[in-house]
Amino acid sequence: MKKDILTILDLTKTDIDYLLNRAIELKKMQKQGVSYRPFAGKTLGLIFDKPSTRTRISFEAAMIQLGGTPLFISAKDTQIARDEPIRDTARVLSRYIDCLAIRTYSQGLLDEFAQFSSIPIINALTDLYHPCQVLSDIMTVVEKKGRYDKIKISWIGDGNNVAHSWINAAAVLGLDLVLACPKGYYPDEEILKRAFERGRGKIKLTSDPVEAASDADVLYADVWASMGQENEHKERKLVFEPYKLRGKLLQYASEDVIVMHCLPAHREEEISEEVLEGPKSVVWDQSENKLHMTKAILEALIGGKSAVS
Ligand code: CP
Ligand code: NVA
Repeated sequence: MKKDILTILDLTKTDIDYLLNRAIELKKMQKQGVSYRPFAGKTLGLIFDKPSTRTRISFEAAMIQLGGTPLFISAKDTQIARDEPIRDTARVLSRYIDCLAIRTYSQGLLDEFAQFSSIPIINALTDLYHPCQVLSDIMTVVEKKGRYDKIKISWIGDGNNVAHSWINAAAVLGLDLVLACPKGYYPDEEILKRAFERGRGKIKLTSDPVEAASDADVLYADVWASMGQENEHKERKLVFEPYKLRGKLLQYASEDVIVMHCLPAHREEEISEEVLEGPKSVVWDQSENKLHMTKAILEALIGGKSAVS
């Protein structure tokens, strides 16, 4: 049966542990110059309704490095733009390509693609989630800290799509996750409720950035206004100011804290230049790991590796 990754909740702890180990292995193979090209004749479609540097190019590069072909599909030049139903597009594309990664606004649109496609559908970011980002972020945490559990991971900023995927990951993996968000910008209640119901991990919500930063092993920042919220940018800049990842906040964290940001970063908004470029920042390794995790995901979904249930 085909497998989709629409949210992290589509994966079990065993699946994620497998992907983490495999991504680390694939990274090692690449560094050793091992050629591994199992995807001859396979095609990955990419439909991106929002801009992207890292996700699009890491998916394309991953597919090429694995010997397959990425096919960027400009939705505005397809019949989708002329209102051909998603269920028709999904069934037709399933006859041509082997997997489809989609970045769009609505999670519902992704669900519809998944329902009507016979090929795996991968969420490359929606307004609600960014699962592949958080999978590669956890890979970085494991590389730097040796583990993902029993360490304090703190999200500071907006309760947005990336935060939601961290909440899901906490529920599946049992993470110790603290989210500090301004009142009115907390994560989605339903997503939190579902995570709490799983009873795994410790998820704590606060509006105090110092509480989140205190003794943190991982400090994570993301933009204050996500794609699609550009018109709220000015107002958000005022509300979020105390949540900026700055040197002063880092002083509360554990001595060997790592600073993460999914990028793109807005210097001197959600993160200071000093912190982003400073010794605690792992953002470039974090970005690189998107490539390796994407390879592990593609291999599991279309490469005949059956370790992902
Ligand atoms: N982190 C991330 O998803 O970056 P892009 O928007 O450049 O893909
Ligand atoms: N929360 C951000 C993530 C960008 C990778 C956004 O959705 O714009």
